Amino acid sequence: MPQSTSTIDVRPKRTLPLKLYATTSVGLEEVLEQEIKRIGGREVTVGRRGVAFRGNLETVYMANLWLRTAHRVLLNLVEFDAPDRKALYDGVRTVRWDEHLGRKGTLAADAVSNDSDLTHTRFIAQVIKDGIVDEFRDRYGTRPNVDRNNPDLRVSARLLNNRCVLSVDTSGERLHRRGYRPSFGFKAPLMETLAAGVVLLSEFDGSTPFVDPMCGSGTLLVEAALVARQVAPGLLGREFGFMRHPSYDRHLWRQLVELAKSQMKNDEECAIFGSDVADESLRAARASAAGAGMDDVIRLRKADIADLKSRTEGMVVVNPPYGERLGEIEQLVELYQTLGRVLKTRCTGMSAHVLSGSPYLSQKMGLKSARRDIVWNGAIKCRLLHYSLY
Ligand SMILES: C[S@@+](CC[C@H](N)C(=O)[O-])C[C@H]1O[C@@H](n2cnc3c(N)ncnc32)[C@H](O)[C@@H]1O
Repeated sequence: MPQSTSTIDVRPKRTLPLKLYATTSVGLEEVLEQEIKRIGGREVTVGRRGVAFRGNLETVYMANLWLRTAHRVLLNLVEFDAPDRKALYDGVRTVRWDEHLGRKGTLAADAVSNDSDLTHTRFIAQVIKDGIVDEFRDRYGTRPNVDRNNPDLRVSARLLNNRCVLSVDTSGERLHRRGYRPSFGFKAPLMETLAAGVVLLSEFDGSTPFVDPMCGSGTLLVEAALVARQVAPGLLGREFGFMRHPSYDRHLWRQLVELAKSQMKNDEECAIFGSDVADESLRAARASAAGAGMDDVIRLRKADIADLKSRTEGMVVVNPPYGERLGEIEQLVELYQTLGRVLKTRCTGMSAHVLSGSPYLSQKMGLKSARRDIVWNGAIKCRLLHYSLY
């Protein structure tokens, strides 16, 4: 498992055994496990599309501030059997919801269900909302409004084998939304959390050059720059769900933010190079780099992969297009052949890390991988192939 320099070792100062669960993409659980250990999570165990751990309020804030591969950080409230609607509703009613939401607050619920009798996630979410609304109505004669987009409280239910875990989502908007991506659209960008996972699985630590010759909107470049500079992704200006929770400790959060800022390596020389053949990609990459405040580290130029400059040091990390339909895939054969040839002839002494959703196309590079990881890009099973180029 790669050692990332991306996070810092801060042990929870008070023991307050909150049960936490950070979700991620399939294939990144072990990377996330290492990240959580590094921020001081306790009793860390890999679960289904996520990692369970324990900690205190400080751990919750550290997790949201620092974790690069987590989608959200959930605070577990209660666990119970939920084979049917009534059991689910009764379980929801065991929680004192006024400890998590003010009387005039707004709320949203979401659910995932696996191997359980309740399968309809919208129905599950509705039962949870009903339970919470009834709790407020009975106790205070008021009812919280539902706001799916920007609620004060997001409640999450995970059902597995008819067992339900109900949690507060401490992240609010998902953590991949770092806040640096431009508002104008770009076709097929990598999710920021997956790009960070690729960077960490490639064992990049900022000490050698990083090259993405098909950089698209620059997600790999930005995530690599954040790792190299040791910038916590949560410093980029977004808000978090825990800020609207009644327990919000503004002072503690400010302290952790100041600590994270003091650990940024602002003066460090690091070399991060991106190129792409398309103007629209470069425009998006420039905007992303500027949005993350990394435009002084990331150097961009317009170039075809066939014209990649020779180098002898560092790593190439690339996510070439992989097409979905047969015709598209056949059209990309030549591109992968070129990529393989360029890596072989102009990158001797470097390592290469290629993320592709097409084993057929990856094979066309004609290189033998030293190691591979399986990661999922949404519904697409991808391979991250690692090569040593001699
Ligand atoms: C799947 S996208 C990369 C997405 C990127 N990782 C991101 O997060 O936005 C593939 C990129 O390869 C670029 N590309 C395709 N053919 C190329 C070539 N011959 N030389 C350089 N770039 C190329 C495309 O313009 C596109 O931006």
